[in-house]
Amino acid sequence: MFTATLITLSLISLTIPSSSSDHQPQSTTDVCIIGSSLAHFLRKYSPTTAQIRMFERHPVVGGRMATVTIAGETFEAGASILHPKNYHALNFTHMLNLKVKGPSASESSFSLGIWDGQKFLFKTIDSDSKNQIVQYFISLANSIRMLFRYGVSLLKMNNFVEVTVDNFLKYYESEESRPIFSNVEDMLKWADLYNLTTHTLEEELVGLKFSPLLIQELITVITRINYGQSVRISGLAGAVSLAGSGGDLWSVEGGNWQMAAGLINQSDVTLHLQEEISSITNVGGFYELKSTNGNSYTCQITVVATPLDELTTQFTPEISIPERKLQHTYATFVRGLLNPAYFGLNSVSDLPELVGTIESSELPFTCISVLKEHNADDFTYKLFSRQSLTDALLDQIFSIRNETIRINWGAYPHYQAPEEFAPFMLDDMYLYYVNAFENAASTMETSAVAAENMARLILSRLAGQQPLGSYGLKSSTSDSNLQHPEL
Ligand SMILES: *[C@@H]1O[C@H](CO)[C@@H](O)[C@H](O)[C@H]1NC(C)=O
Ligand SMILES: *[C@@H]1O[C@H](CO)[C@@H](O)[C@H](O)[C@H]1NC(C)=O
Ligand SMILES: *[C@@H]1O[C@H](CO)[C@@H](O)[C@H](O)[C@H]1NC(C)=O
Ligand SMILES: *[C@@H]1O[C@H](CO)[C@@H](O)[C@H](O)[C@H]1NC(C)=O
Repeated sequence: MFTATLITLSLISLTIPSSSSDHQPQSTTDVCIIGSSLAHFLRKYSPTTAQIRMFERHPVVGGRMATVTIAGETFEAGASILHPKNYHALNFTHMLNLKVKGPSASESSFSLGIWDGQKFLFKTIDSDSKNQIVQYFISLANSIRMLFRYGVSLLKMNNFVEVTVDNFLKYYESEESRPIFSNVEDMLKWADLYNLTTHTLEEELVGLKFSPLLIQELITVITRINYGQSVRISGLAGAVSLAGSGGDLWSVEGGNWQMAAGLINQSDVTLHLQEEISSITNVGGFYELKSTNGNSYTCQITVVATPLDELTTQFTPEISIPERKLQHTYATFVRGLLNPAYFGLNSVSDLPELVGTIESSELPFTCISVLKEHNADDFTYKLFSRQSLTDALLDQIFSIRNETIRINWGAYPHYQAPEEFAPFMLDDMYLYYVNAFENAASTMETSAVAAENMARLILSRLAGQQPLGSYGLKSSTSDSNLQHPEL
């Protein structure tokens, strides 16, 4: 998995009815937003909202959800897996008549090896047997071997993840009992998730008396696969990462990007593909957006729902947000055959289906996994790395390489506990930033959760409901007057 957002790389412009700003000329009543599931929630909470326009700088929607096709088969190239409790994503999938794809039998019982650059520190036993009883005993044997290596703290992993997932479920409570949050900190505190962002996963797990070997090996393998980073990511990003390594994960058949495309399709937005917004200028009562295509749009409200970190958009006046770097993940897809000699092995069949790695500056990749076995000497693999993999290196790792596709993703934030959060409101008017929530955790579902809150925040402020300052822990009963403002 690499997790990424539902709502990325796109600018929407939404026209609200002129009655709400009848003192201004018609041309200033636009609201410009960046993000797709946001449009869905705006429509849901305010069906009377007028025209929505969406600007996407790429030729396709979906942002960090995309697929590649190799040997006639489609594979997720970016954000790839969803958790069974990702309820927004599940609802989108059902509402859009998309099909849920569970892990195939081979994916759910894949073999794992932990590679340190010289040798495998740990390998699960693998078997080609299709016999269920044989499979059962092999997985039992693997569990026992893991317990031997990592000790009983292995059993605490599930508990740590479950507590965090349960806290996250508060964001699905009804709008009556769930406040509208005007900043990320309050949103996280309300669900008891904030503390996990103030220290690293490593600190959290050491505090919980996890064995050092478990942290250095298995847990590091998981954070490297999911976030391309070490156990020094925040405890919250770490818990989300561990949740994404469990069973019952799913994806959308044919590609997760279809959720974004379907939501846009159903939200009655006018989509402007390949139109990038180059500047956002506050000109008194409204915002002027200029696109690289030379067009200009006036908007009463503007929402950025793509990471600002690498955007060159000019803001006037300038905005100030905490500095953040995106972690780049290079996804390399190879059709061919791994070279067992690179791993000190004699036969390809001795190689695990997932090669995970520990933190080591010498390791050129973070993981290699088999996506598909076409036949005994023809596979499709996916590699993740922090740098682009050169042909020379790939020719050492692979003995046959018939097709190679490289994608460089600005995949997720480079997490640094204690996390500092950008504001949801970029100024004291109507300039918003959904991806401020990404410093908590970056997944398709967290984007949807942030977008749902953002839609309510925008509509409540539009309806002139105050105060919008702080919704602390005591606020859950006191702001029941804040839901469903009519436009
Ligand atoms: C998902 O859909 C069901 C049925 O329409 C609804 O009850 C539930 O609240 C939805 N969940 C979310 C997270 O929107
Ligand atoms: C969060 O940390 C603070 C300070 O360490 C502590 O007082 C508070 O009880 C913690 N909250 C939770 C929910 O763990
Ligand atoms: C958009 O929605 C309509 C029905 O609402 C459907 O017929 C069409 O296939 C959808 N298009 C895409 C690209 O999802
Ligand atoms: C891959 O390339 C080799 C030669 O480099 C060729 O023999 C083999 O048939 C090719 N396999 C596929 C599946 O294209």
